[in-house]
Amino acid sequence: MIKISPSILACDLGDFRNQVALVENAGADMLHIDIMDGLFVPNLTFGPAIVKNLRQTSKLFFDVHLMLENPEKFVDPFLEAGADHITVHAEATKHICRCLQYIKSCGITAGVAINPGTPAGVLEEVIPFIDLALVMTVNPGFTGQKFIPEVVNKIRKVKSMLPDNVDLEVDGGIGLSNIKLVTEAGANVIVAGAAVFYADDPAKAIRELKAAE
Ligand code: DX5
Ligand code: ZN
Repeated sequence: MIKISPSILACDLGDFRNQVALVENAGADMLHIDIMDGLFVPNLTFGPAIVKNLRQTSKLFFDVHLMLENPEKFVDPFLEAGADHITVHAEATKHICRCLQYIKSCGITAGVAINPGTPAGVLEEVIPFIDLALVMTVNPGFTGQKFIPEVVNKIRKVKSMLPDNVDLEVDGGIGLSNIKLVTEAGANVIVAGAAVFYADDPAKAIRELKAAE
């Protein structure tokens, strides 16, 4: 069974709470929350206060994707804000192992993400410390970008490296036209921003993505 994690970066931000409620009621498995610092990626998004605010009205599993330099500095604030899971980028810290160990010691699940240009091998030594590996299928920073098909081979490679109890998430440019490509390569957690929130009927879009497996 695949899980769909709608990315709120793509939603109508003037209607934040209702957009989250909409995907929650539509059967989204989790909510993907993209945190950007303008340094690791060329964009800025939300801080912990926004996540805390959403937490007040949503029971969804909060899948927090930190696209920040030195993410270890921000684990505590996002944990306190209500994150259920935190993914950090392997490229963003000198101490990826320590950072992952710390996240897990806080009682939530931990993930490690790699950009399209980062080789799969980077994950090898941290697999014992993760619950999820995130393979980026766009260069991170913006919603609505085009899927990079060259990454599919790496998804396959990462799948072959992971034990069964570690999820494999993919993020960027995924919709009905290419979801099968990534699930057949081994991904089981699918982030979808534009494909859900730019759709006329986001609830229908979630159902169709789930059915497309
Ligand atoms: C990209 C973000 C993604 C993005 C996904 O930097 O990490 O989560 O919001 O949006 P789509 O599905 O529109 O590419
Ligand atoms: Zn993301």
